[in-house]
Amino acid sequence: MSSSATNILVTGANGGLGLGICLRLIDSFLESRHATESLNIIYTTRSARKGSDTLKTLQAHLRKHYSLSQHKRITFQPENVELTDLLSIRELVRKVNLSDLTKLDAIICNAGIGGWIGLDWFAAIPAILADIRNATVWPFYKLGTIGAVTKPQLPDGSLTQPEPPLGEIFCANLFGHYMLVHWLMPLLRACESNTPGTIIWVSSVEPQNYHFKSDDLQGLQTDAPYEHGKRLTDLLALTSNQPATEKATASFTSTEGMKLQRHVRSVPTQYVYQPGIVVTSVISLYWIIQQAYLLGIYLARWAGSPWSTVKPYTAAHGAVWLALATEDEIRKAEIDAHAGELTNATAVAKRGRVKWGTAINRAGTTTVRPTEVDHWGLTGSGAAFASHWWGGKSGLGRKPGAVDAKPEDVKGFVALGAQAWEDMEQLRKDWERRIEESEQP
Ligand SMILES: NC(=O)c1ccc[n+]([C@@H]2O[C@H](COP(=O)([O-])OP(=O)(O)OC[C@H]3O[C@@H](n4cnc5c(N)ncnc54)[C@H](OP(=O)(O)O)[C@@H]3O)[C@@H](O)[C@H]2O)c1
Repeated sequence: MSSSATNILVTGANGGLGLGICLRLIDSFLESRHATESLNIIYTTRSARKGSDTLKTLQAHLRKHYSLSQHKRITFQPENVELTDLLSIRELVRKVNLSDLTKLDAIICNAGIGGWIGLDWFAAIPAILADIRNATVWPFYKLGTIGAVTKPQLPDGSLTQPEPPLGEIFCANLFGHYMLVHWLMPLLRACESNTPGTIIWVSSVEPQNYHFKSDDLQGLQTDAPYEHGKRLTDLLALTSNQPATEKATASFTSTEGMKLQRHVRSVPTQYVYQPGIVVTSVISLYWIIQQAYLLGIYLARWAGSPWSTVKPYTAAHGAVWLALATEDEIRKAEIDAHAGELTNATAVAKRGRVKWGTAINRAGTTTVRPTEVDHWGLTGSGAAFASHWWGGKSGLGRKPGAVDAKPEDVKGFVALGAQAWEDMEQLRKDWERRIEESEQP
């Protein structure tokens, strides 16, 4: 691997969206970058066997579609991590930090679990029959688990106080990534200031304001911990450039006290992306039901749903664009998303971040588009939805019953985001202190 290679880390790469992202990264990089540039994909799985199977798939893709000279521009670095195990995350970070990587250009926080135990078929069937387009994009009939926790993090008896519980879905989807990203900060901050590192949080089209309860950060008391965690992901990422979160985000991106330092050149930028509805193993269904589900998502697309992306490679478009685009290209797209407000100088200056989504048309062509976020709108400006929505007034792609975010909703969203950043930072520091204590002789 050359020291100037673009290094991108993808978690949960052995299947589903993660594998789609890796395959699409290869194609987009080779299609768009100069022949002298190279890409190193660091991908994680949960076992050595899954890592080597993934390597075979990625290498077979390269062999099938590209010449030998193109092969040489792509390298793979398989790694293992269990995101519900903080010591496993720390082990991965140690390994990556000790490797010859000089910087990390992007991290795609993809791995995750749904944690659902089934579907409420009595609610699902009539809803799907009545409106397949929306019922498959916002499936209110999934049955979640309440109170699932990870295995104990630290050896028995290594702490003076009992170890507190850590929510399993919260940790697999968000907190494990949060720790990983923080601990990898020396590499992310080693990117040049004109090409800062990129953190891509993976959300979903689904979460609404009501899914998140700020007094239950880990979602231990809700029967929708997945949606709660995705709403928290939106809150964190979309407010990451707001003055109200400055102190907490500075602490999150700080490399102070970290043993393995690189030269600090920049601060990474945080984005949030949602892949649409993709048929993967995130929801466990019997084979025959999985086939019906696949057909249902295709039907929803043909009925006009722009979020029914179906296939992981297709759905990966948004993540790959965010990982490979220059900051200027993303800024330009953000300004376009604010098109309806460009006359309002204050709104432009305080530009809010966009939740990027992979959108698709009936013919299967994808584009990367702003997603409407409850109480944030498209850009956090509070501007009327229809004024600058890419789907036009037709409302396709908009949750039925959604209402425009009012300025006070946006204010509330930012306040919740700021509180969430503080709570996440506190949780990170608490766990770092516990890990340190458990290692005292
Ligand atoms: N599918 C959709 O429609 C959809 C929609 C919106 C958002 N998303 C998001 O997309 C991401 C990928 O989901 P997917 O649909 O591709 O699901 P998937 O096919 O089940 O893949 C999930 C990946 O994450 C890994 N993973 C799960 N728990 C982990 C843990 N504790 N530690 C490390 N790795 C772990 C899995 O590894 P194993 O194979 O070892 O389990 C697998 O590689 C998730 O964040 C999900 O929330 C999916």
